[in-house]
Amino acid sequence: MNTVKTIEEARHQVKVWKKEGYSIALVPTMGSLHDGHESLIKRAAKENEKVVVSIFVNPIQFGPNEDLASYPRNLTKDKLLCESAGANLIFAPEASEMYQKEVPTNVSVQELAVGLCGAKRPGHFDGVCTVVSKLFNIIPADKAYFGEKDAQQLAIIKRMVRDLNFDIEIIGCPIVREEDGLAKSSRNVYLSSKEREAALILNKSLTKARQALSDGEKSTETLKKIIIQQLKTETLAKIDYIDVVDAASLTAIEFVRKPILVAIAVYIGKTRLIDNFIYES
Ligand code: PAF
Repeated sequence: MNTVKTIEEARHQVKVWKKEGYSIALVPTMGSLHDGHESLIKRAAKENEKVVVSIFVNPIQFGPNEDLASYPRNLTKDKLLCESAGANLIFAPEASEMYQKEVPTNVSVQELAVGLCGAKRPGHFDGVCTVVSKLFNIIPADKAYFGEKDAQQLAIIKRMVRDLNFDIEIIGCPIVREEDGLAKSSRNVYLSSKEREAALILNKSLTKARQALSDGEKSTETLKKIIIQQLKTETLAKIDYIDVVDAASLTAIEFVRKPILVAIAVYIGKTRLIDNFIYES
């Protein structure tokens, strides 16, 4: 497995593989890879002949008061995980390779970015769409793999691909959890041991909501109340948002009908964690 830092090198390798007729997968990441990323890479390796993992902490998707500077980075460890999971190439550019000095041309999927994380992180999804578009142009893969933990990101990228006619198939992969239920996230390393324990409240509150749905609950307000009630039992948890939306349009709904997305963002201390589930009614 090779690691390249320039667009030219990545393009060259992918061109060679294309010419040789290989099917190619892209797994876009910001590094600090964990079991969730590993599951994406393994699935990509199972379904494609060549797998490119991009590792790039994309500055334009972070807000001014967010954790760009402290975002965990560990390329040496990431390389080992990529290699053992079956990747063939890592594309790990510097920011100066990806962006010129001027404000970059922007890709924006406005409709789906209004609520959930979009409401709390203005400009975040423009940054994601812009970098993902660039990656799709640099590495013209057949398929790209994204985690369902970032449910809004996945919906937005699917819409962007449809609307801008990118010739790539987007594959969503299930959330990977720790044994005790905490969703794997690169940001979990920020948690102290007390906070790590407290963070279990995210999955516990979603489990309660899922149970209520299975018991026949139809009111999205009631579902939100159930989640709030649970989250309030944990003193270290501060709610950022709780949303129950139509899973495709991400718009608010009053009653459960089609597949719904139940998504939450919660601060545990200073760390903002997200989690969700999709319920097919
Ligand atoms: O999900 C992520 O890690 C990032 O948002 C992505 C898709 C790699 C774009 O920077």
